[in-house]
Amino acid sequence: MNVTEFAEQVVFGTTLEDKLWVPGRLTHEPNRQSAPYLDSISTPGRPAGLQMRHGKGGNLQPPSDDKLENEQARGQLLHFLANHELLATELMALVLLKFPEAPHAFRQGVLVTLQEEQAHTRMYIQRMKECGVEFGSYPVNGQFWRMIEPMQSPMDFVSRLSLTFEQANLDYSLHFASVFRKLGDTRTADVLQQIYEDEIGHVQHGLHWFRQWKNQEQSDWEAYQNSLEYPMSPQRALGPRGAFNRDGRVQAGLTDEFIDVRRPYGGLIRARKSNWLARLQRAMSRYWINWEKISNW
Ligand SMILES: [Fe+2]
Ligand SMILES: [Fe+2]
Repeated sequence: MNVTEFAEQVVFGTTLEDKLWVPGRLTHEPNRQSAPYLDSISTPGRPAGLQMRHGKGGNLQPPSDDKLENEQARGQLLHFLANHELLATELMALVLLKFPEAPHAFRQGVLVTLQEEQAHTRMYIQRMKECGVEFGSYPVNGQFWRMIEPMQSPMDFVSRLSLTFEQANLDYSLHFASVFRKLGDTRTADVLQQIYEDEIGHVQHGLHWFRQWKNQEQSDWEAYQNSLEYPMSPQRALGPRGAFNRDGRVQAGLTDEFIDVRRPYGGLIRARKSNWLARLQRAMSRYWINWEKISNW
């Protein structure tokens, strides 16, 4: 099997076996062109029960931390997180299909990351099963897909996925690892800890390529802001309030400027803005604007 055939199976397959299949050694086909059908794929193939839902009921929120004593609620949270890992798997496959001309080393890195996303999905599925929940028994949304699928370049991909949603996962995975450890559920905590450690590498990989492709006259932070278009925004790179994980970001190689300017309600934002501006920022968080420029008025 070659890389394209494998990536097509992951994106368009309609069973979990297709999507989570461990490929082994894949061949690379030279001079492949990106197929025109890849210009817009509204949804990847999904098994019954896991089709992405939009609108009412499609964005079922996971249980809050204080509900996680209950096994069923734990399973529901793991279901929510597993869908994100499955989306990451599908999006990694999509970037392989969309940009065959991207550097070989980048594509190799994506291929390795894709297989870690598959493993994360399997780990969550296994653990939710032990909690009595089957994958597909709750509605799943496709927000990541809708926001990342329109990417126009590999640079766009690393900005949207690696530096935004995977960066947010540094907060989510470590936060939930700590919640489960406090509850005495070390098995789930270990799963989340493993995922957290892998996600540091995923952000690192994206950052490495982002630095190759960005405007070299701009700082990482400036280039990142310039690379995102609505509805993407740097706010989406943050996990739950109070779970900001500076250490993971440092390990991933992000600069102090990149890290501290987006500390929620803190860092440079708090230092530089009056209260009314901070309130305005929260209200406008859906419509990202350049706070650095505003602060320099
Ligand atoms: Fe992951
Ligand atoms: Fe990841």
